[in-house]
Amino acid sequence: MKFTLDTTPAQEIETDCLVIGVLEQTPLHGSAKLIDQASNGALQQLIESGDVDPFWKHTTMLHGLEGVNAKRILVVGCGEPEKFSAVRYDNICTSAGVFLRDHVTTSAHFCLHEFEAEGMGEHRRICQTAVNVDRANYRYTATKAPKDYDNEPLLNASFNAGDEMQAALDEAKGLAKGYLRSKELGNLPPNICNPAYIAETAREIAISYDNVSVEILEQDEMADLKMSALLAVGRGSVNGPRLVILKYQGKDDDSQPIVLVGKGITFDTGGISLKPGPNMEQMKFDMGGAASVIGAFEACAEMQLPINVICVVAAAENMPDGDAYRPGDVLTSMSGKTIEVLNTDAEGRLVLCDALTYSQRFNPVALIDVATLTGACVVALGHHASAIMSKHDDLADELIEAGQKAVDRGWRLPIWDDYQPQIKSTFADMKNVGGMAAGSITAGCFLSRFTEGQRWAHIDCAGSTWIWGDDKGSTGRPVGLLTQYLINQAQ
Ligand code: BES
Ligand code: MN
Ligand code: ZN
Repeated sequence: MKFTLDTTPAQEIETDCLVIGVLEQTPLHGSAKLIDQASNGALQQLIESGDVDPFWKHTTMLHGLEGVNAKRILVVGCGEPEKFSAVRYDNICTSAGVFLRDHVTTSAHFCLHEFEAEGMGEHRRICQTAVNVDRANYRYTATKAPKDYDNEPLLNASFNAGDEMQAALDEAKGLAKGYLRSKELGNLPPNICNPAYIAETAREIAISYDNVSVEILEQDEMADLKMSALLAVGRGSVNGPRLVILKYQGKDDDSQPIVLVGKGITFDTGGISLKPGPNMEQMKFDMGGAASVIGAFEACAEMQLPINVICVVAAAENMPDGDAYRPGDVLTSMSGKTIEVLNTDAEGRLVLCDALTYSQRFNPVALIDVATLTGACVVALGHHASAIMSKHDDLADELIEAGQKAVDRGWRLPIWDDYQPQIKSTFADMKNVGGMAAGSITAGCFLSRFTEGQRWAHIDCAGSTWIWGDDKGSTGRPVGLLTQYLINQAQ
């Protein structure tokens, strides 16, 4: 989608669709007021008669309003004037975006950012509107005829602001690109998006930017590095594992990088500890962590942020076959620590432990892994928040703040050492499951054993990265949180 700026007043602008907001029980102001005046009070009358609905997230399309140049006006209900939070603002933009996706208009002019929202400046409001409208207009077409859709999505979005807001649109452009990448990787079926496909995608990204390079490790090279935990998970599949390393250099050579590590299980059957049949297809989203670190990386490259970022993706397919790893196996990880496998379905932590050990060679200022690690995380937080775990309060705070700003929220869980005894093993340094209690935390505790001495955080996005229901599919999250974190670090 193309984003532009245009300061032409609401009643004068020539557009397919003008998008304005109205509050409940509040005199019209801003663009809504201009439209009302130009149309001799028609808008106010339509609100009073109940034809225009100011309730939160409700949308009404008006056609051919007298005295107004726009062909149509989409009036978005903004609800009660008080408690105008960033989340509420975010929802209003998404409602407008969803409506326009399903409508004939292919260009629209937005005035929604006239509304003040808690903690959001004009830059953020414009950026958020653009990104949300773009995200709402996403359509999956990779393995499906586009003609299945009734109309074209929105292609052009302009915003009622001057050139000084160009930076907000540049940011939105990068974010939209990152979200798109993450969503598309998440939604692609597992027979297409396998470890080799993820590696190929990384190669394409590296070709697009001069200051991005890529390195792909295959089985033999991983064996040389003694990544036995990662290799064990991939062994049951004919689609061999890959370790994908993307490097972005936005600053001088020797400046320490931020390292993002992603869980890229392109399909998780559970392995020999096979998952039950119903809903197993959802385990194609088990590379959501990888998709989001790649997406945030791409957003960062698109914006050319002045920082160094390295993205490490552990890509593998967890399948059961004659060569698959089994419960009872003891694996020696790259770090030298041994792991007793009690459940081959707790595979994410196994690929991540080797990727985290590997990542330390880059001497990161911050080491952040992102993973659809536990079903327990979905139980705890549902689909609204990612879980954030870190022993570093400052790093956890930075991530939570970034998530709030981007309206892609995280919620902190503790990883106190008190939980560590749950992963004690009789036959190895640790076991790969911690029992029923605090499943997300014990998974985090497992990873903590491979990040000692590092400024490290773990993000469990098992609930946030995909949703079921009407808009079933990948959300692309937490690209917003990660990208905002990178933007903040660049300042
Ligand atoms: N990929 C799953 C976690 C998951 C479950 C993500 C549901 C999204 C939705 C992970 O590999 C897994 O299977 N975890 C097990 C761990 C258990 C065996 C300790 C789980 O959560 O059941
Ligand atoms: Mn699993
Ligand atoms: Zn998994």
